[in-house]
Amino acid sequence: MMPLVSATKEDARFVYDLRFNDQNRHLCWTMTFPSFQEHEQYFLKHLHEYKIIMKADKKIGFLRLGKEIGIFLLKEYQGRGIGSIVLSQVSGRTSIKKENTMSQRAFENAGWKQTGYIYEKKEEEIEQ
Ligand SMILES: CC(C)(COP(=O)(O)OP(=O)(O)OC[C@H]1O[C@@H](n2cnc3c(N)ncnc32)[C@H](O)[C@@H]1OP(=O)(O)O)[C@@H](O)C(=O)NCCC(=O)NCCS
Repeated sequence: MMPLVSATKEDARFVYDLRFNDQNRHLCWTMTFPSFQEHEQYFLKHLHEYKIIMKADKKIGFLRLGKEIGIFLLKEYQGRGIGSIVLSQVSGRTSIKKENTMSQRAFENAGWKQTGYIYEKKEEEIEQ
């Protein structure tokens, strides 16, 4: 299990920098890149959907449990199995771009079922 803590309004900058950095901004379908102020307004409105992924006392990523699931890890924590563990703890639905094979593998490892671009996992399918 990876500890997930509810985001607070102070996490707006952490989430923005991770979601919209040069490496990540094109990974999801969103093609609009908001200013920090625009993001902050949106983030605060949806604050209850955001979880911060922790490793010891360090924030290493975030999960968004919205209409679609979103997950982003700091670069230095990617490719170590952490995303697969986090995704095995939650259920929902997401769509992943064809070229994002790392994300596809992580969702598959976590037992999400794929139909086209859509990945889904039901709450009752989460292993306890
Ligand atoms: C997507 C993400 C959350 C996955 O978490 P992760 O901890 O890095 O993933 P894992 O280490 O659990 O699994 C990654 C899988 O991709 C494979 N992989 C690693 N590096 C890869 C690469 N450069 N290209 C393709 N696959 C790769 C791994 O081998 C592993 O698959 P396997 O277990 O079958 O071998 C994380 O990589 C991330 O934050 N990426 C950037 C943001 C992003 O794409 N978010 C999703 C948007 S929908």
